[in-house]
Amino acid sequence: MFRIFKFDTVDSTNEIAKSYSPGSVIVAHCQTEGKGRFERKWKSPLGGLWFSIVIRPEKEAYLYNFAAGLAVLESLEEMNIAAGLKWPNDVYAKDRKICGILSKAIGHSRLIIGIGINVNNKINKAERKAISIIEIKGEKVDSEQLLLTILSKFEQIIKNDKDLIKRYKEKCYLLGKKIRIRTQQGVISGLAKDIDEYGRLIVEENGKIIIVDEGDATTSKQP
Ligand code: BTN
Repeated sequence: MFRIFKFDTVDSTNEIAKSYSPGSVIVAHCQTEGKGRFERKWKSPLGGLWFSIVIRPEKEAYLYNFAAGLAVLESLEEMNIAAGLKWPNDVYAKDRKICGILSKAIGHSRLIIGIGINVNNKINKAERKAISIIEIKGEKVDSEQLLLTILSKFEQIIKNDKDLIKRYKEKCYLLGKKIRIRTQQGVISGLAKDIDEYGRLIVEENGKIIIVDEGDATTSKQP
């Protein structure tokens, strides 16, 4: 069970979440300093769903990240939106990003999972790589209901995590594709072969197996 705390405008729900206890969910209408992966800015205007879940981690952090991505994907599928996961936890629809996830550990006792979903916000034409639910459905959707659906799925997925990796792999569209992935060690180009039991991406580059635990991947074909 989660306790939901709603805000109008905040800098970042991930920042606010730092002062809340496990089981809290911080949701805001707008963020003025939304944060993305790799220190990127995350645009967070009115109409999107911007929230952070505070967790007391009892399992490996990547399992919570994967569960969050799957919960968003399954919630979209319930709305008849076909979506796919881009490792580690972006959600794509129609070849464009609809959701990003940024998680941060606070010591050993708390994990913050920040989830940003383009819901009723229109995407600027210049941002060709992003899409929102309203653009796909052609009508407004109920963000509050979507939040509740995601939280309930997230809770169930993490409770029954035996087949989490298998379910995640089924939805991860990078697998079996040629990818380019930017890592801190440099760019890797090769075949995305698998995801291991620690949530790492296995890539084959020129016959050599590389295990990637963080990065930003691109492929020519996304769902
Ligand atoms: C990414 O794809 O780069 C991750 C984006 C994560 C955005 C969400 S919105 C809610 C939470 N608060 C933030 O500042 N960031 C995350």
